[in-house]
Amino acid sequence: MKDFKGKVAFITGGGSGAGLGQAKVFSEAGCKVVIVDIRKDHLDEAMAYFKEKKAEVHAIHLDLTDRKAYAEAADEVEKVYGTPPQLLFNTAGVNAFGPVEASTFEDFDWVIGVNLGGVINGMVTFVPRMIKAGKGGHITTVASWGGFMGFANTAPYACAKAAVVNLMESYYMGLKPYGIGVSCLCPIGINSNIHESPLTRPESLKNTGYNVSEKTMEYEKKAFYESGIDPVDLAKILKKGIENEQLYIFQFDDPEKMLRDNYERIINYSTPEGMKMQEELERKRREEMAKMSGDAGPMAGAAEAGWGKAREGIDWVKDK
Ligand code: NAI
Repeated sequence: MKDFKGKVAFITGGGSGAGLGQAKVFSEAGCKVVIVDIRKDHLDEAMAYFKEKKAEVHAIHLDLTDRKAYAEAADEVEKVYGTPPQLLFNTAGVNAFGPVEASTFEDFDWVIGVNLGGVINGMVTFVPRMIKAGKGGHITTVASWGGFMGFANTAPYACAKAAVVNLMESYYMGLKPYGIGVSCLCPIGINSNIHESPLTRPESLKNTGYNVSEKTMEYEKKAFYESGIDPVDLAKILKKGIENEQLYIFQFDDPEKMLRDNYERIINYSTPEGMKMQEELERKRREEMAKMSGDAGPMAGAAEAGWGKAREGIDWVKDK
């Protein structure tokens, strides 16, 4: 898709971070935008910005794990703009950090429910409406570089992201005959508010195996996100990728080396010799990480904040 003028864009997580960046960039490109978010304060702040810009933006308060509410939001879009969206951005996501062996059912249900379930709800709700409208379009899902490998301290997240990377390829193939393009954006490090994810965790899924506190959230913001890419810059990269009809979109010019290294890891893990080689690489990586945890390293403060640990009362997790 190259012409965005007058197109309706539906953006989940549009109240903050990457989603808000998309709302700004695609509204500037001439789209009529719908932002949906579970956080009313995020929607209010975003709407104050768009009101000042006199941009055509509509906000809907939605928990995208609620399928009935999602269908109602889709009806609302048609009522407000007279058509289903031509652009869908499955952007909302949450994260939780802690040892994989401490994970509870609720840690999995929450993170996978939003990051994979929310994307599925978006696809099942909108794809039939978009096909029936017959106007073509483009769908983007925000995955993560984290979807390309396992992580021992953010397993439900990595697992959900791996699933959406795969799912988008299936939809890419399936939706081609309808003139609907599909992209999967795989960022690393966005300057966003994702460290505040625990604030949106539902009461019914509160039981976590991880140590989560104000301190761990503050630490995450400083260590991982503050230095990340600006959401508007990321959305501009995404726009270019959509214009080029790319399935996978990365934020760096040349992702080839990282991707080749990544697949080499899988090849290594599949033979006894390769296992030894990969274990050695992993040992070196852990050494690097340990250095980074030193006073001047980017991971300084992790131990003091209790970040990445199991919650109190979980007595089977080793201090590694
Ligand atoms: P963010 O927290 O700034 O924005 C996400 C928005 O989604 C928030 O406004 C939040 O309230 C909303 N949200 C959360 N759960 C929801 C639900 N159940 N229903 C509706 N809205 C919900 O975070 P960020 O970083 O902009 O996240 C956007 C996407 O980027 C996510 O999918 C995330 O996994 C992905 N990502 C983020 C990276 C980072 O370094 N921040 C790196 C790679 C991917």
